[in-house]
Amino acid sequence: MRFPASVIEEIKSRFDIVQYVSRYVDLKRSGANLKGLCPFHQEKTPSFMVNPAKGIYKCFGCGEGGDVIAFLRGMENISFTESVILLAKESGVDIAMYDTPEAERERTEADLLYKINDEARSFFMQQLQESTAKEANDYLHKRGITPETIKEFSIGFAPATGNLCIAHMLNKGFPGDLIAASGLAIVRDDGSIIDKFRNRIMVPFQNLSALTCGFTGRVINSTDNPKYLNSPETAVFKKGSFLFGLLQAREAVKREAQIILVEGNFDLISLSQDGIVNAAATSGTALTDRQALMIKRFADKVVLVYDGDNAGQAATARGLPILMNAGLTVRIAVLPPGEDPDSFIRKNGREAFKNLITGASDIVDFTVNRFAAQKELSVPENKAELIKEMSELLLNVSNPVLRAEYIRRASEKTGVQERLIMGKAPQPNRYRAQGTGQGETKVAELSVPPHEIRLLELLIESCESCLLPVSRFVHSSDITHPAARTLLTAIIEGGEFHSSMLATLPPEAADLASRLAITSAHTEGSEAKKLAETHDIILKIKEKSIKKARTELMAKIKAASAEERSSLLKEFDAMTNEINSLKKLSEQPSESEITPL
Ligand code: UTP
Ligand code: MN
Repeated sequence: MRFPASVIEEIKSRFDIVQYVSRYVDLKRSGANLKGLCPFHQEKTPSFMVNPAKGIYKCFGCGEGGDVIAFLRGMENISFTESVILLAKESGVDIAMYDTPEAERERTEADLLYKINDEARSFFMQQLQESTAKEANDYLHKRGITPETIKEFSIGFAPATGNLCIAHMLNKGFPGDLIAASGLAIVRDDGSIIDKFRNRIMVPFQNLSALTCGFTGRVINSTDNPKYLNSPETAVFKKGSFLFGLLQAREAVKREAQIILVEGNFDLISLSQDGIVNAAATSGTALTDRQALMIKRFADKVVLVYDGDNAGQAATARGLPILMNAGLTVRIAVLPPGEDPDSFIRKNGREAFKNLITGASDIVDFTVNRFAAQKELSVPENKAELIKEMSELLLNVSNPVLRAEYIRRASEKTGVQERLIMGKAPQPNRYRAQGTGQGETKVAELSVPPHEIRLLELLIESCESCLLPVSRFVHSSDITHPAARTLLTAIIEGGEFHSSMLATLPPEAADLASRLAITSAHTEGSEAKKLAETHDIILKIKEKSIKKARTELMAKIKAASAEERSSLLKEFDAMTNEINSLKKLSEQPSESEITPL
């Protein structure tokens, strides 16, 4: 669905961003802005700012920023369109006419897929009550799963014979093609559809909006294959952005600022039943960046508790850089060989599991111990291999203090000098806050030249008077930093800075814009003073870029043939003149000399 900009502005104008954000964040006044603890990442000192005048927010810790639409989108993990629709509903703006049949169909299909999955959830739960489910109930009982847990996780049973699930769905009026699209059915070559899940314990997958989006089905007969069968990827289920149990766990995860990650869905169910509720399961698939970012919304610490076998430990090692890259601190609890979290907690109890979590190793210990269990460290080549592996892993730690500490520990543990562990310092992510301790990264710490920053600030805060000279004199090629150049062009083309730009600018430029929109609100001074400052900066920028162009031209002149040379020399003279006249202007930087042009 595409909405005209005017409609989006209309919707936004009906919300006071401060009031809206206050539903989720406790805001306190701070100069022209309001400040609070960021709802998108865990932090102790507030770095989340809201600028009421511009209708935008920005977190200087994690980088999240934008307008009220972006805020809702981030909070609810929904699409731009969904966010606009929700806000339109809440503010009473009628958007029905922008609903194209195409968009309508997509939305209806997703709605229906959720409905089908949810109907299947009830159906499977009902089936678990039938006499045909005796074996299934015996199995759950044997696993120690209580009736309360069965209810809490909506555990059900897919019957062994017939196509009862499909028949039930058709009977409820759902179209056959959508039943097939939901992944509950398999389409045969002759076009007929049959139940995908048979004679399995069914565990529904619920997303963070508590909607049923898919299933995992476990065999009851240990001879059946595969042991677990999951729903395929559909319009409502993407396994790379799903974590089983996060819906139920998220409040506890937030409260404890820590999440326990396990592989198996039944591991998660077992932990939850024993009161370990801040956990989620990766459902046996490889961790993705998307999942790491989902976790980061609720906690900044992860304890990985994968199976105690080689496959589990290898999966742990693969997950580390992904989690660390999302800015998460990771520890690893290693289970005895042959155990998984489910078997461990059933054998040893909740306290033993808690001790295991408390005593989890950090990434250095884990990496060294795992390596040492496979290869003899007294062999120099092996040690060199370990150090290489360790160095690569530590490149994912963005916090410099933490990185230094890990290097120190790795050095202690291996006897290899610190300077050999990580030869070159990692490139810090240019826009990512490195944690100033103040909870706020100054825009000046970005790699954008200060005068380009200041010019953009001036444009963002008092556009009208400053825009004219800038658009007359400054060309995008005069701006050296790519994000600054994109932003400047957008402001010049748009005639002013507007918060709605944040949605359309490329991410780096949008990030820069939202930072500047917040910090520029701090600067004081009269319009006239700001205009004079603008003139000064224009002169500086032009002088720099002309000098650079002149140097390049000079090189060309040297290499040019006689005919070419005279025209190039003329160009060179023109540039020299331009510099001289700009210099004259800078001696008397009054408004009258520039604006009348
Ligand atoms: P495991 O084989 O360790 O199973 O696979 P488990 O979790 O201990 O299962 P139980 O206790 O025997 O019931 C770990 C995870 O890998 C996924 C499942 O999510 C499982 O929980 N898996 C495993 C599959 O998706 N398909 C399979 O065939 C096997
Ligand atoms: Mn198991």
